[in-house]
Amino acid sequence: MRHLISIEDLDREMLTTILDTTQQLLPIAERRIKSAPTLRGLVVCNLFLEDSTRTRISFDIAAKRLSAEVINFSGKGSSVSKGESFKDTALTLAAMGVDAVVVRSGSSGAPVQLANYLDVPVLNAGDGWHQHPTQALLDVFTMRQHLGQLDGRHLAVVGDVLHSRVARSLIQTAKLSGMEVTLVAPPTLLPASVENWGVRVARDLDAVLPEVDAVELLRVQRERMHRAFFPTTREYAAEWGLDARRLELLKPDAIVLHPGPMNRGVEISADVADADRAVITEQVTNGIAVRMACLYLMLAGRTEGDHRE
Ligand code: CP
Repeated sequence: MRHLISIEDLDREMLTTILDTTQQLLPIAERRIKSAPTLRGLVVCNLFLEDSTRTRISFDIAAKRLSAEVINFSGKGSSVSKGESFKDTALTLAAMGVDAVVVRSGSSGAPVQLANYLDVPVLNAGDGWHQHPTQALLDVFTMRQHLGQLDGRHLAVVGDVLHSRVARSLIQTAKLSGMEVTLVAPPTLLPASVENWGVRVARDLDAVLPEVDAVELLRVQRERMHRAFFPTTREYAAEWGLDARRLELLKPDAIVLHPGPMNRGVEISADVADADRAVITEQVTNGIAVRMACLYLMLAGRTEGDHRE
């Protein structure tokens, strides 16, 4: 892998390699000294131009567990806030000799642009409504841990599909894994292009839940909504939220996922968020190993100094 911009860039073999590498790297977290020397001497820059808790900290820990040096760079407090262009920011990072850039941006397409400016690997940590590939990889890894082989398994993705880069990446990754995908959402929160996505679309969550092996709830993205997409939060929760009654409709071994951050009481009730079959904190833990795997697969060959000669 040169860059990790979109799940569309992966084939099934690459996906399996990432998930298997993640499995191998997971035990590092159990060691007393939680690090390996794999990327010693390399510099990873985390360029976060949009707010993040999970992804930013997860990439930071992942790079450090592989012994890379990490520069954490956010728009606030940098020359970006003085109007420096994205291109000049990228060229400045390149001039400082970073070996990889992890980028989060509110603008769809920013990681592709960055990859055009830079001669080092670019990892997309979420861009606009477009893609969030490492989130999808950690979601699918977590499903594989619980469900085993994913071919023929059924995933429901519920909620604000329209504004969700998580949904776009996850649907592609789940399908690449051989899963069947059903979207459940209010019609106002589905993109017009959904009919070309190769998924089933349903309206009645109660009817879908008994059929699926996993359900991923999407955050209602109020910050991306400039008009009303549903009448009230209470009505949204009643029609599309997962609560304790609906949890009982799932198969006994079905699991509940959420990418975070959650709106408790909207797309997921507080008791479901804390229920045993909700694997939300496991997703966060697995995210570190998934990001370690991506950094390893993209950078491990570079520790010999070949790219600097
Ligand atoms: N899931 C996710 O991307 O969370 P953050 O915005 O906190 O990184």
